Amino acid sequence: MRQPIMFAHLTDTHINVPDKNPLFEIDATKKLRDMFAELGKLSQKPAFVVISGDLTQDGDVDDYRHLREVLDEEKAKLGVPVYVALGNHDSRPFFREGYLREQPSEESYYYSFMEDGLRIVVLNTQVPGTHGGRLDEEQLAWLRDVLAAPAPNGTIIVHHHPVVPTMTPLMDSHLLDNPQDLAAAIEGSDVIGLLSGHIHCNNIGLFQGVISAAATGVAFGIEPTGNDSMKFVDNSGYNLVLVKNGQMIVHPMAMAGDQSIVFEWKMDAAHAHA
Ligand SMILES: [Fe+2]
Ligand SMILES: [Fe+2]
Repeated sequence: MRQPIMFAHLTDTHINVPDKNPLFEIDATKKLRDMFAELGKLSQKPAFVVISGDLTQDGDVDDYRHLREVLDEEKAKLGVPVYVALGNHDSRPFFREGYLREQPSEESYYYSFMEDGLRIVVLNTQVPGTHGGRLDEEQLAWLRDVLAAPAPNGTIIVHHHPVVPTMTPLMDSHLLDNPQDLAAAIEGSDVIGLLSGHIHCNNIGLFQGVISAAATGVAFGIEPTGNDSMKFVDNSGYNLVLVKNGQMIVHPMAMAGDQSIVFEWKMDAAHAHA
């Protein structure tokens, strides 16, 4: 029998270069560094860290350069690899230039990697220029091709926009536009779980028969206050994910913050933000 694998799922870091337009006066860089410090104190070190998008708040090239510096330092201290996905606040060209240190381009960013027989597929649900999420046919075809051959320890998919219905219509308006296409792509495959972000709160349910878990944000959390309103709160969290006996088990970890309300949002007051 295979040894269990444990890793950390973080999401929604919303980092900018220091002192530039700090979101809700929150120091997102400190939030991220504090979270890595927490990971370093765990009795069992995660095998890797994966971050499911909204890496930056503004998506400028300097924001990605800053994020890369911070993550390079933190992953060196922790001693494990860090993988990232893109979210609606991210920019493909500036991510490629500032984070990947490549030529800037609009090319979508999705890939898979293997860790001790567990396959992680990182998707890109962002639709450039919008806050919405969708998987285009090219990426779905790639996903079907990847999943055609099973991995020894199953597959977990990481993506930004969630697929499981939430507690409120307002949050439901932030889900992936075409979950039926993702469901069709994973049907009959070795996928044992899906991990997402974007809604900045824990939301866990079944999708196509497997567990789908959206995590709260590194930078801040969101709590529904009604069907058409929610509050943004100064707290943080991440999920420890255990793969054991062919199952994905999700263990939410909270970092309290000061719990102050940094922003309140009514449906009719603004468009998509998370
Ligand atoms: Fe988002
Ligand atoms: Fe976000």
